[in-house]
Amino acid sequence: MDLGLHGRVALVTGAGGGIGQATARSLAGEGVAVVAADIRAEFADATARMVRDMGGEALALPVDVTDEASVRDAVATAEGWRGLIDIVVNAAGIYRVGPFAEVTFASWDLVHDINLRGTFAVCQAVLPGMISRHRGSIVNLASISGRTKATLAAPSYVASKAGVIGLTMSLAMQSAPHGVRVNAVAPGPTETEMILGLEPEMVESLVRTIPIGRLATTDEVASAIVFLVSDRSGSTTGETLNINGGAFMI
Ligand SMILES: NC(=O)c1ccc[n+]([C@@H]2O[C@H](COP(=O)([O-])OP(=O)(O)OC[C@H]3O[C@@H](n4cnc5c(N)ncnc54)[C@H](O)[C@@H]3O)[C@@H](O)[C@H]2O)c1
Repeated sequence: MDLGLHGRVALVTGAGGGIGQATARSLAGEGVAVVAADIRAEFADATARMVRDMGGEALALPVDVTDEASVRDAVATAEGWRGLIDIVVNAAGIYRVGPFAEVTFASWDLVHDINLRGTFAVCQAVLPGMISRHRGSIVNLASISGRTKATLAAPSYVASKAGVIGLTMSLAMQSAPHGVRVNAVAPGPTETEMILGLEPEMVESLVRTIPIGRLATTDEVASAIVFLVSDRSGSTTGETLNINGGAFMI
């Protein structure tokens, strides 16, 4: 099925890692020119090389989504590359596990600065261009943890992801009259460093909550994101799409 994305330009944050990288590859497979942005510049480079090796167009960019100036520069460079940004995927994120009483203020702030404030910062920087062209589609990375009780204690992460869902709805309302859609995906545990780096018994406890009996793959999450940024989902905005193997249903 042709999703009609050929020739569009996407900015993907967190593109050096699991879901962001898979999304960059999937978008490139649909003919999208991809700006692969990540705080780990060498990982962003690797993703851009992967895209070029598959015959796609890519630009690697270092960005720290917690730093307003870095976000502004990255968005300006990305817009200058092909003259516009049609699509943004906010996949930069971190996870911190641990009981509530042990969460430090520094850790709370870092998780929120990257997951929630970083998403806000990138959205705010790209919106003026999208609004001026009356065209744009943004997908934010929420999580199953922001929607229902989390299996592992991760209070700051859970709060930040619930915030991403609220931010997505608020932005969707304000952007809709300007031709810009804003959605989120809420993956369950997915095969990336973020989960595979946990203690094996933690991973097992997560898998036990998933009716299909396995972690999601990064390609499965990327496919949902590609659908949401395409015009095939033109009437969908403010939505948070579950991708969780049945672990949480509404
Ligand atoms: N893996 C899962 O199970 C899962 C489930 C639900 C939601 N998510 C969300 O999906 C997104 C991607 O996660 P992933 O599993 O691919 O993780 P990952 O660790 O593989 O990738 C995250 C990427 O974000 C980058 N990053 C971190 N801080 C940054 C910053 N300040 N500025 C720019 N980039 C930064 C990292 O360098 C990394 O490449 C995250 O928002 C995560 O919370 C993941």
